[in-house]
Amino acid sequence: MAVPVFSPPSAFTVYVFVVLGLILSQAVFCNGGLTSNFVRKVENSVDMPLESDVFSLPPGRNAPQQVHITQGDHEGRAVIVSWVTMEDPGSNEVIYWKDKSEDKKSAQGSVSKYKYHDYTSGFIHHCTIKSLEHDTKYYYQVGIGQNPRTFWFMTPPKVGPDVPYTFGVIGDLGQTYDSNTTLTHYERNPVKGQAVLFVGDLSYADNYPNHDNTRWDSWARFVERSTAYQPWIWTTGNHEIDFAPEIGETHPFKPFKHRYQTPYKASNSTEPFWYSIKRGPAYIIVLSSYSAYGKYTPQHQWLEEELPKVNRSETPWLIVLVHSPWYNSYNYHYMEGETMRVMFEPWLVQHKVDIVFSGHVHAYERSKRVSNIGYNIINGKCNPVEDKSAPIYITIGDGGNIEGLATNMTEPQPDYSAFREASFGHAILDIKNRTHAFYSWHRNQDGYAVTADSVWVCNRFWHPVVESTGGRA
Ligand SMILES: [Fe+2]
Repeated sequence: MAVPVFSPPSAFTVYVFVVLGLILSQAVFCNGGLTSNFVRKVENSVDMPLESDVFSLPPGRNAPQQVHITQGDHEGRAVIVSWVTMEDPGSNEVIYWKDKSEDKKSAQGSVSKYKYHDYTSGFIHHCTIKSLEHDTKYYYQVGIGQNPRTFWFMTPPKVGPDVPYTFGVIGDLGQTYDSNTTLTHYERNPVKGQAVLFVGDLSYADNYPNHDNTRWDSWARFVERSTAYQPWIWTTGNHEIDFAPEIGETHPFKPFKHRYQTPYKASNSTEPFWYSIKRGPAYIIVLSSYSAYGKYTPQHQWLEEELPKVNRSETPWLIVLVHSPWYNSYNYHYMEGETMRVMFEPWLVQHKVDIVFSGHVHAYERSKRVSNIGYNIINGKCNPVEDKSAPIYITIGDGGNIEGLATNMTEPQPDYSAFREASFGHAILDIKNRTHAFYSWHRNQDGYAVTADSVWVCNRFWHPVVESTGGRA
């Protein structure tokens, strides 16, 4: 029997294989949209030490700290002011006045404390100031009678279809050196955001032993430089759950609920985790990935009743915030958003939602307008298809948290994915009028004015053309 003998390949054979290999490797990247080839230094993200200047205490005994504001009603004429005093409760009063006015008004809030394992919080104050005028600068003061501190904010313009308004978009921020870079880039972006749409995962205190809640305090001091001056619209992420029965903590969302308020009752919601607001030309719907959303649950019922209420002649821009993404081509959090997508996606397409912002995956991705609602288990239509009525899905969980970047992507890039890159950053949604908004994403490695991904977004109700897939400006 003849024994096969290995003979070395000829130079020509090697050449053919090399050329074939190059062609195939290119083909892998030609399936979907653009996977950015931006190369960054990949390092672990490290939390800033507690003695960092970004966490410093305000001067004076019992001075109010961790000051933050959010919208306090459905229309944008109320603001919830929140702050913490450490030594004693102090005053619950907020004094506020219009710019250039001597007429000072006062509102009374409430104060509470909570315990979490062996941690006891400071005195947490919340006070809603109401009946504000639109498009007006207000000053406000907290810590009355002790060491008061003064801040200011702008109220939004009256709700209407063609009032321009600019939102910042930040997710999964945490309190690392990268988080600080992200916030600085947002603050110094020449296109000034007027309010932040925050898509969940705030402090990452639960990464510490016993969910060390002093990291909830430090986070609130870190972001105060923005949150005291413009409203952050809060979405809850998995790092807000803080469910830890092993240390006796069996009430989910306990620290978040005490520290951060949302105007959920104004939109007939029964929990602070899902609600809606109008702000200028936008109708913002916030959903909770970590509250029940199956049929017959309160969140399901609320959303079903909520979507038909949106009047696009009043608020043309319909935007949804939800922590766990429904479309995600990174190899992280596989299928975590899938059950909610199955429940709610048909409604979002039916009601022509413009954009869905999510976090959770620590990277950036923007989808084309696609839907995956034709599948009925047996018809085989289980792949997303281009759909003019569908939202753009944007994953922006790239704020800079301690868990680091999600760098591992599925290959090839799926058809629905228009642009993806594993870098930290933030986004700006600059609504111009009822038909157009300029959306841009900004990575931390670039200068403040640089746009790393952008697209002119066309409103689904007033101008439902399919956008060019965008890309780097
Ligand atoms: Fe998350």
